[in-house]
Amino acid sequence: MALINDRFLRACLKQSTDRTPIWLMRQAGRYLPEYNATRAVAGSFLALAKNPQLATEVTLQPLDRYPLDAAILFSDILTIPDAMGLGLTFEAGEGPRFSKPLRDEQAVNNLRVADLNELKYVFDAVSEIRKALIQDGQQRVPLIGFSGSPWTLACYMVEGSGSDDFKHTKGMLYQRPDLMKKILDANIQSVAAYLTAQVDAGAQALMIFDTWGGLLPDGWYQKTSLASMKAVIDLLPREKDGQRIPILVFTKGGGIWLEDIASSGADVIGLDWTASVAKSRKRLLAVNKPLALQGNFDPLALFSSPEQISQEAKRILDELAESPSLGSGLHSLDGHVFNLGHGISQFTNPDHVTALTETVVSHSKTLRNQ
Ligand code: CP3
Repeated sequence: MALINDRFLRACLKQSTDRTPIWLMRQAGRYLPEYNATRAVAGSFLALAKNPQLATEVTLQPLDRYPLDAAILFSDILTIPDAMGLGLTFEAGEGPRFSKPLRDEQAVNNLRVADLNELKYVFDAVSEIRKALIQDGQQRVPLIGFSGSPWTLACYMVEGSGSDDFKHTKGMLYQRPDLMKKILDANIQSVAAYLTAQVDAGAQALMIFDTWGGLLPDGWYQKTSLASMKAVIDLLPREKDGQRIPILVFTKGGGIWLEDIASSGADVIGLDWTASVAKSRKRLLAVNKPLALQGNFDPLALFSSPEQISQEAKRILDELAESPSLGSGLHSLDGHVFNLGHGISQFTNPDHVTALTETVVSHSKTLRNQ
């Protein structure tokens, strides 16, 4: 199936594009009134995520509103621990909760690799979305599949919910590294099988969300979160039907470990807003690891005026345009996927997202034509 718009895949693979592709982490979500309407039909967030037809509907909503260059599967990273039997619920306004967190040796010893049959709704959603993306016999944009990183999943599995400091999880890491290793090993196998099944169902790129890798000290990050992501990547298919499947790794707070992340086997490194895309480009070139980058507009900058949003988006593009390119024949802006530095806030004004996306579209074209 030919793609009408392949800018996202081309940027991930460091090929030239006419402008910078853009998509937004959590682009389908509560800041959109149409999302809230569909969610009300489903009854809850989990019911929505578990209904392939409605999950397809919300996946496409942001694409109909904004000039976005990729769709991302509507689901959640916590589907895996749910399928491991930890009992996931989302309390209104409180975030995720597991009824059976992994707090002791017995619970860890009873942990099993996720049963993919329990996750069939995810793979069904992937194939439904692929079908729904077809327009006049061609695919509008590529579809990104995703998973949490083994470490980030472990954080929720041990803690049983979100947390400011994940003290039970980090406590286990330092006190009982043997137990943490068992959890990470189960997660590595589960995440690899889950992402492989998403590719089989039609995912054309894979993103690993390592939201809590940045909680770890230097050294611990490399041997805990990064090593388990590398183990996952080693197990993943890299090609389907002759097309490379790019892998994107996003460690929130991972800017300091850029050179290490570049050795993970990923094609693209996602940056949060504390890093600089331009400086990251230079650092990677300095160690001869010229990976593509994704990011990193501060999602909270969407709370400024449309003019200020436009200025801030231009700053990121202008800085990168002044940096060295990834290779001959490439513009400095090639090999960059514009995105937020983290998920969009539910309180974002949807019109402000229009200002952001339209600025990236026009300004990245202008800079390339100068
Ligand atoms: O990007 C997309 O549009 C795809 C969908 C997606 C969701 N969650 C939908 C969602 C993706 C990629 C995720 C990833 C995810 N989920 C992460 C990693 C990225 C990150 O944000 O750090 C994490 C840590 C989670 C776990 C999670 N899911 C939390 C902590 C919460 C509650 C807090 C919150 O922001 O609401 C969720 C719920 C969730 N996942 C919502 C959505 C749209 C909101 C739920 C609702 O509609 O009530």
